Amino acid sequence: MSEKIQIFRSHQIYTANKANELIDGYIMTSGDRILAVYPGEVSPDHWNEAHVFHDFRGKTITPGLVDSHTHLVHGGSREHELALKLAGSSYMELHLEGGIKSTVKQTRLASFDELLEKAHKTLLSMLLHGTTSLEAKSGYGLDKDTELRVLKVNKKLDRTQAISIVSTYMGAHDLPLEFSSNEEYITFMIEELMPAIKKEDLATFCDIFCEEGIFSLEETEKIAVAAKALGFKIKIHADEIAPLGGAGLAVDLGAVSAEHLMAISDADIEKMAASDTVAVLLPATTLFLRAENFAPARKMWEKGVKIAFASDYNPGSSPCENLQMAMDMACLGMGMMPLEILKGVTINAAKAICKEKEIGSLEKGKYADLTIFDAKNVDYIFYHFGVNRVSDVFKQGRHVVHDGRLNLSEIQSCIMNK
Ligand code: NIG
Ligand code: FE
Repeated sequence: MSEKIQIFRSHQIYTANKANELIDGYIMTSGDRILAVYPGEVSPDHWNEAHVFHDFRGKTITPGLVDSHTHLVHGGSREHELALKLAGSSYMELHLEGGIKSTVKQTRLASFDELLEKAHKTLLSMLLHGTTSLEAKSGYGLDKDTELRVLKVNKKLDRTQAISIVSTYMGAHDLPLEFSSNEEYITFMIEELMPAIKKEDLATFCDIFCEEGIFSLEETEKIAVAAKALGFKIKIHADEIAPLGGAGLAVDLGAVSAEHLMAISDADIEKMAASDTVAVLLPATTLFLRAENFAPARKMWEKGVKIAFASDYNPGSSPCENLQMAMDMACLGMGMMPLEILKGVTINAAKAICKEKEIGSLEKGKYADLTIFDAKNVDYIFYHFGVNRVSDVFKQGRHVVHDGRLNLSEIQSCIMNK
């Protein structure tokens, strides 16, 4: 790793540190790490001809964006659902006619290389939109071979492209057709698949779709307890459509996060506020589902729940790899403020994937992951909506997106130093 010193000057630096502040100053990095963030003009003490100076005055710098909930790797697409959706079919009606099952079919048919190539393309688009780290769930294979294949694709992608990837096993996404009951499938997951995944160290988290007609509260608890015993950390798709109480269960289980939460109860908001469980909210999904209510983000924020916002990139309920879309919906749909949203796609998102010691804020010792918005202030990031506002991205000190374009030699150098 070259120890090249770089200086990034901007009037608007969102640090995502404890004070959740914006500073007019500069960031110094060395190689792949942040050395310090200083207020004001660059001090002559810090300047040296050999340093690289990036003048981002007129632009806004944030920590590299963290997308804490995606279903990255899957086969095919489901645009045939569009007309049905517009004709009024609900998510659950589509689910019964195809939905996740139709993606499972397409994913099982796809080879390792096909899945790799498709996801790689998605990741390049995510990078251009400012994402530097993400969480990727399995759950479109369901059988042993395909789940392992998908998680191995995640692992390979983490090493062979710029964005850092944290993996989640989400076998409990649906009941596969070859099983006749949830009970039988849960036994298979617990006894066969989860130990195999841990043996090969293919996933940090285990996630469960706790929803009416998918996995009940009791089943979710059974899967989560077994997963914890095997060393998985827990995430739960909770209270997305029906208010089952999955968020409260997530807190009881010590889950790292409860995700979706469009139908969370007031009692569970209180419970989450008194816990370390992060609420991962997915407002682009609410938009795409054409659902009536966004998750009650404002209420949760006021009560003190830790909130992250994510894309939920997946082929059915959020076929959108642009995290800025979720940020826009957090603003325009949920009424959240720019700094609250930025916190939700940086440090709180890093907490939701247990990476807050390495990424998510601009602080000494963390990775030099930076996203540069072509916006003279943070309000403008949200005011100028509907287009990509990211002009530059630095991943571990490498200038991987330069003036809106992929910088292939820097991406290569980033990969070699991972
Ligand atoms: O997070 N809610 C469950 N799973 C995905 C959607 C899956 C699909 O429809 O393919 C989600 O929205
Ligand atoms: Fe999801």
